[in-house]
Amino acid sequence: MQSTNQPYLFLLDKQCACIQSCTSVTICWGILLLIMALRIYCESQLNWTNTSTAFETQIRDLIAENQNLTEQIKLMKMEFSLGPGQCSVDAYCPKENNKKVCNTCREGWLHFESNCYAINDAELGEQKTWEEARENCKGKISDLAVAINATEKKYISDKSWKSSGENGYWIGLRAEGGKWKWVDGSYLTDNSWIQQPPSDGLCVISVQNEGFKSVNCDQKKQWICKKRL
Ligand SMILES: *[C@@H]1O[C@H](CO)[C@@H](O)[C@H](O)[C@H]1NC(C)=O
Ligand SMILES: *[C@@H]1O[C@H](CO)[C@@H](O)[C@H](O)[C@H]1NC(C)=O
Ligand SMILES: *[C@@H]1O[C@H](CO)[C@@H](O)[C@H](O)[C@H]1NC(C)=O
Ligand SMILES: *[C@@H]1O[C@H](CO)[C@@H](O)[C@H](O)[C@H]1NC(C)=O
Repeated sequence: MQSTNQPYLFLLDKQCACIQSCTSVTICWGILLLIMALRIYCESQLNWTNTSTAFETQIRDLIAENQNLTEQIKLMKMEFSLGPGQCSVDAYCPKENNKKVCNTCREGWLHFESNCYAINDAELGEQKTWEEARENCKGKISDLAVAINATEKKYISDKSWKSSGENGYWIGLRAEGGKWKWVDGSYLTDNSWIQQPPSDGLCVISVQNEGFKSVNCDQKKQWICKKRL
């Protein structure tokens, strides 16, 4: 009995050893493969994340650029045509006695040195706060008037025809952080131009023969736009 059983048992033992080592090798290989798969998966995920963020950034930039261009196109359209059938040539070259006369500034704007000015003599109901007036100028590719020196100050103040006392024309000057600041970002250098101290909430009007005065920015006034040539 025993003699016949011996080799069988021996074989069984060998098989057991083999199965055990094979299993560990398989497990080892399995773990290795899993690690590699995980690594590939993680790398691809990382790459994918990177690529998608890159694309998202690109898309955001393109949208911003698109808005920018749309805005510029809108401004250019306003600049070069006042509406259907009326091109810029008509605005700059109105007919006088059946002859076209071309001006440096568009119709209704005054030319002085290298600028054009629009004196907005708005009726009482159509007068604007300083902010509203500025928006109006921006809509005309210009800004509230800035006087760079005494010559221009005199010009603006002389052109403030329909004004007296507290009734004047907004210009591009207001109090900001305790200083008089122009809309072009510069500060008023000659403080004798305005008598009142610059307290926030005050904006400046131009009054004929009286120069500049400060009043509350929320008041409704006429306004002067300026546009460089
Ligand atoms: C990751 O992306 C780069 C290009 O963006 C590519 O060259 C590389 O082969 C990618 N790697 C993997 C693991 O997909
Ligand atoms: C993902 O982006 C980071 C920084 O943006 C970079 O350091 C990394 O190498 C990128 N990974 C791949 C796989 O492209
Ligand atoms: C939009 O246009 C202005 C002027 O052309 C430029 O300074 C600005 O950087 C642009 N903005 C974007 C987001 O392209
Ligand atoms: C004011 O500036 C204009 C344009 O730069 C110039 O022509 C003019 O002579 C200047 N006036 C004074 C008083 O500086």
